Amino acid sequence: MIVCKTIAEIRRTVAAARAAGKTIGLVPTMGALHEGHMSLVAACREHCGFTVVSIFVNPTQFGPDEDYQRYPRAEAADLAACRRGGVDAVFAPSVAEMYPAGAASEVHVGRIGSVLCGRSRPTHFAGVATVVAKLFKTVAPDKAFFGAKDFQQTVVVRRMVADLNLPVEVVVCPTVREADGLAMSSRNSYLSAEERRQAAALSQALFMARDMVTQRYPPAAEVVSAIRSHLSRCAPDGRIDYVAVVDPTDLLDVKTTDRAVLVALAVKFGATRLIDNVLIEG
Ligand code: PAJ
Repeated sequence: MIVCKTIAEIRRTVAAARAAGKTIGLVPTMGALHEGHMSLVAACREHCGFTVVSIFVNPTQFGPDEDYQRYPRAEAADLAACRRGGVDAVFAPSVAEMYPAGAASEVHVGRIGSVLCGRSRPTHFAGVATVVAKLFKTVAPDKAFFGAKDFQQTVVVRRMVADLNLPVEVVVCPTVREADGLAMSSRNSYLSAEERRQAAALSQALFMARDMVTQRYPPAAEVVSAIRSHLSRCAPDGRIDYVAVVDPTDLLDVKTTDRAVLVALAVKFGATRLIDNVLIEG
């Protein structure tokens, strides 16, 4: 496995793999790798002859009061996981390498970046779109792999790829969960034992919503209030940021559920913000 710290190194490494006729796959991450990330690596290896994982805690996607400083960093363990997972190259640049002094250009994705998570994190998706655009331009992958856990991120990235005519196929992979249903996340490590116990209510509420919708297509408002009451009963320490039923393509609120819908939520335990969603095909 080749570990590249600079843009020049990863460009050379990828160019050599491409010259050898290999399809290039990219899995962008912020490290603290868990099984959710490794499922993307496995999918990438299935589709591509050369798998690149980027590890970069991207400062521009964190708000001023968010967890950029304390975000878990575990480079040695991450590199070991990548080696075990059969990754061909890791791109782990410094902040100065990705954002040289004076960097000013940003990618904005409009309304889809300002709904759902964008309401409480108004600068987040511009940060994500900007760094993903830079990673795509740097690594130049044929395919890039993202998790459905961050569903809005996949919509934002697809929009950006279409709008900027980037020649990358975006592949979305299913959410990997703990035994009790909690979506795996690097941020789960912030939870106290009691918060961790209550956090199982997020996916329980979503699975209950999925059953409601598939059985009898209730109005979206009824789905939202059933989720809210489950959360207030089973996760009393969680503060709901949002519970929403939206169209999965444009993330606009829907009133009825007799069609494809995304049910999504964000809940805060102390300063720890957890998100999850289920996509219900029409
Ligand atoms: P990060 O949170 O490290 O996640 C990297 C990728 O792993 C994302 O595509 C995310 O959706 C996916 N992922 C996380 N948890 C998952 C789970 N439980 N099951 C399946 N996939 C999961 O998302 C980011 O980093 C950043 O915003 C990034 C795209 C790297 C840009 O900085």
